[in-house]
Amino acid sequence: MAVFGGRSEIGLALATRLAPGSAVVLAARPGSMAEAVAACQAAGAQRVEIFDFDADDIAAQADLVTAIEDRVGPIDVAVLAFGILGDQAIAERDSVAAAALLHTDFIAQAGLLTVLAQRMRTRAAGTLVAFSSVAGQRVRRANYVYGSAKAGLDGFASGLADALHGSGVHLIIARPGFVIGRMTAGLDPAPFSSTPDQVADAVVRRVRSGRGVELWIPWQLRVMFAVARFVPRALWRRMPR
Ligand SMILES: NC(=O)c1ccc[n+]([C@@H]2O[C@H](COP(=O)([O-])OP(=O)(O)OC[C@H]3O[C@@H](n4cnc5c(N)ncnc54)[C@H](OP(=O)(O)O)[C@@H]3O)[C@@H](O)[C@H]2O)c1
Repeated sequence: MAVFGGRSEIGLALATRLAPGSAVVLAARPGSMAEAVAACQAAGAQRVEIFDFDADDIAAQADLVTAIEDRVGPIDVAVLAFGILGDQAIAERDSVAAAALLHTDFIAQAGLLTVLAQRMRTRAAGTLVAFSSVAGQRVRRANYVYGSAKAGLDGFASGLADALHGSGVHLIIARPGFVIGRMTAGLDPAPFSSTPDQVADAVVRRVRSGRGVELWIPWQLRVMFAVARFVPRALWRRMPR
């Protein structure tokens, strides 16, 4: 299995669950991987391999996947766990900051999903995990830059999942709500918050079941966001992030 964004809290929680007896690939930006490697080894990984990965370098994504598969073998489960929350206030004023957030959270994800889907399709096997968010389901004024990236990613992944239907490749679109962890440090938890461990447990169950595309975490958010579509705009624009 491979985690792209190898220091991600959610990605690592997933890696440790899928590690026993497996080769684990952690693809991450330069920086210390000691903790992440130790966690995977303690979880029973057969081996842990580290690769340098800058998601924003889209032209390098195909070569990276080739290098991983040459060294470690075909990727059975690929988790795209990279992403940034960004600074909404800055992104509202600074077009370069807004575009950088959209690039990492949407464009780079779409690029890597395309590369991985192609490789897995030729083998008629594999599981892809994309991290959307409820933030993209009905975009809120308070975080519309991040939310719109997730909306774009969610739409892309939905179409790709349909394109992969019957190919033997399973794409899971995870839609967590607020996850209490490093990415949201300092923010007040929203209703139906979860933890990286709860998100990973839900995703692993879905990986093992081999069926079903959309995964709301927790499931109650599906109902909440079905209703959210009907909330009048005058009210919706006052929703907190
Ligand atoms: N946390 C939440 O509330 C929440 C809710 C819904 C969805 N999600 C999504 O779930 C996914 C995982 O989030 P998380 O909570 O595990 O966040 P996290 O712990 O902050 O991990 C995100 C990882 O992305 C990596 N990253 C960012 N930009 C990158 C780039 N250009 N190239 C390579 N790696 C890059 C970071 O690398 P560095 O270690 O080098 O900084 C970091 O390790 C994200 O897509 C996030 O949007 C999170």
